[in-house]
Amino acid sequence: MSARLKTRYLGLELKNPVVASAGPLTARLDSLIRLEEAGASAVVLPSLFEEQIVREEDEINRLYEYGTESFAEAQTYLPEMEEYHTGPENYLQNLRNAKGALTIPVIASLNGTSTGGWTGYARLMQDAGADALELNIYYLPTHPDVTSADVEARYLKLVAEVRAAVSVPLAVKIGPFFSSLPNMAKRLYDAGADGLVVFNRFLQPDIDLATLSVQPRLVLSSSDELRLPLRWIAILRSYFDKSLAATTGVHTAQDVIKLVLAGADVAMTTSGLLQSGPALIGDILLGMRTWLDSNEYESVEQMKGSMSQRNIPDPEAFERANYVKTIVSYSTESE
Ligand SMILES: Cc1cc2nc3c(=O)[nH]c(=O)nc-3n(C[C@H](O)[C@H](O)[C@H](O)COP(=O)(O)O)c2cc1C
Repeated sequence: MSARLKTRYLGLELKNPVVASAGPLTARLDSLIRLEEAGASAVVLPSLFEEQIVREEDEINRLYEYGTESFAEAQTYLPEMEEYHTGPENYLQNLRNAKGALTIPVIASLNGTSTGGWTGYARLMQDAGADALELNIYYLPTHPDVTSADVEARYLKLVAEVRAAVSVPLAVKIGPFFSSLPNMAKRLYDAGADGLVVFNRFLQPDIDLATLSVQPRLVLSSSDELRLPLRWIAILRSYFDKSLAATTGVHTAQDVIKLVLAGADVAMTTSGLLQSGPALIGDILLGMRTWLDSNEYESVEQMKGSMSQRNIPDPEAFERANYVKTIVSYSTESE
């Protein structure tokens, strides 16, 4: 494996910038091994959810209070989650198994929105061997009295709490919906995040007209969705030296190349792997080497950020001016 593709993310030396993000393929040991064999430079395990931990703790407390007759019930909680993720203890065991079987870094993921005892699992993940933690904060304020400042304070408190619990590197996975993303990024880094993972792909429920019910609807991404993380990585890289990972819409070598040029340290993929299988990673790596050769770039490190907002001749291309230009050019072209 040549050194040309090497990158550094969360203080970890990675052999290339292609990371398998949290998803069904990182939930099982056999597919984790296939991902490593295919060339993934690191893997992020699926999240252990605050809801799972809190429910399990509640059930344990109830068992102590009411005796073992409620055991059957304790086993039926969140059945749909059980299919995809296992309970907290199994999660730690899966993490240990992954660490035992893989040589690439294994990043564990916690997913929640509030501070509290459940964040103690961050420490347990570290103790189980996680090379780094990813904290996924997927908070959806729906009450009109909740302000942006309230939401931001909630994120920062949670990051500070998890940061205080562990010494391994910490990445925070966020969505794009902040009034001022660069300011929020600055405060997340200040609160102790070593890296940001942009962006959570918010899964939107749909209305099923046949049954008149609200249905969860998971549609896998396409490369078209890359441009949201691409723009923000280019902007954030202009201000911050800390780690930046891109997630959403990474399907091809070109997608990874664009993100690295914008300033990403790594590009993560889930939908692409679900659609094409682990072999996708080999194709991406081959495509990257070919591109480096034909564009006379020595290495990923040399490419990194060379097209961040600060480094391009027309920084406005990432800003409002570009939006105005794009709209105007469309209407004149289409006449
Ligand atoms: C079936 C499925 C399960 C996922 N599970 C998790 C998860 O447990 N934790 C998490 O942080 N992200 C999870 N994700 C989000 C992915 O890690 C990724 O950020 C998102 O799908 C966008 O990347 P993509 O365009 O490559 O799919 C999941 C995505 C899919 C499709």
